[in-house]
Amino acid sequence: MTENSWAKGRIAFISGATSGFGHALARRILAAGGKVIATGRRADRLAAFAAEAATPNLLTLQLDVTKPTEITAAIANLPPAFQAIDILFNNAGLALGIKGAHEASLQDWDTMIATNISGLVHLTHAILPGMVSRNRGDIINVGSVAGSYPYPGGNVYGATKAFVHQFSLNLRADLLGKNIRVTSFEPGMCETEFSEVRFAGDKAAAAKVYASAKPLSADDVALTIEGFLRLPSHINVNTIEIMPVCQAFSPFAVHREN
Ligand SMILES: NC(=O)c1ccc[n+]([C@@H]2O[C@H](COP(=O)([O-])OP(=O)(O)OC[C@H]3O[C@@H](n4cnc5c(N)ncnc54)[C@H](OP(=O)(O)O)[C@@H]3O)[C@@H](O)[C@H]2O)c1
Repeated sequence: MTENSWAKGRIAFISGATSGFGHALARRILAAGGKVIATGRRADRLAAFAAEAATPNLLTLQLDVTKPTEITAAIANLPPAFQAIDILFNNAGLALGIKGAHEASLQDWDTMIATNISGLVHLTHAILPGMVSRNRGDIINVGSVAGSYPYPGGNVYGATKAFVHQFSLNLRADLLGKNIRVTSFEPGMCETEFSEVRFAGDKAAAAKVYASAKPLSADDVALTIEGFLRLPSHINVNTIEIMPVCQAFSPFAVHREN
């Protein structure tokens, strides 16, 4: 494999390619000669990406992962040149709100579960049989450090990411004997649109999350993923957790009466 050919001949399906990690990985794969099916809800972002990339290696599809019929139709109607998906970057996801469980919005909880769990599961269910029939594939499920380390206000978001971790390991168990790799990719703080979404568009609140720190960038994430997509095909990265150096752990919180 030459330095820049790692993606040649590979077709990646990316959920959440309109910003952040998904967009950065899509750009890296295209730059290395691979094909990308870039999906997301925002049609204007997809159109801008298609115009900027201006390559037949990019197919953009408007897709809401919380709508199972859209997923089924998208996979059933892929043009022949994009049907043999090699890489599934199961990335579409979001955190909504930071309130304690007793104050949080039930609608926000439902949306996180529908996107981070059901959306990821439905995409896997739609794409995995093709990978198995071709006996080839890479599934990268985007979890989070929030799936391992609890924090106040992380309630349902962290729980959805714990699901991603265990689902990924269970897929490995089912896929024994097949040439299909599965990775649970679990990053820490990364500056994308993530916090703006979490704080319902409040840019000032989002900016505070990253103030005076050096968080990961979306391209740091894409570079890390490129690293394990480049590994020889018999190596499976089961779980990978990355953080910026400026982020670490706190002691347990103890409530004291006085
Ligand atoms: N940034 C962090 O600090 C961090 C840390 C750990 C894990 N993560 C995880 O990383 C993943 C990517 O996040 P990001 O940081 O890149 O955030 P981002 O910039 O907000 O990107 C999220 C992407 O998900 C898509 N998306 C959301 N809901 C969707 C839906 N119902 N259907 C289809 N696409 C949907 C969005 O596209 P549309 O709005 O156009 O649909 C967008 O492209 C998420 O799963 C997130 O939980 C992020």
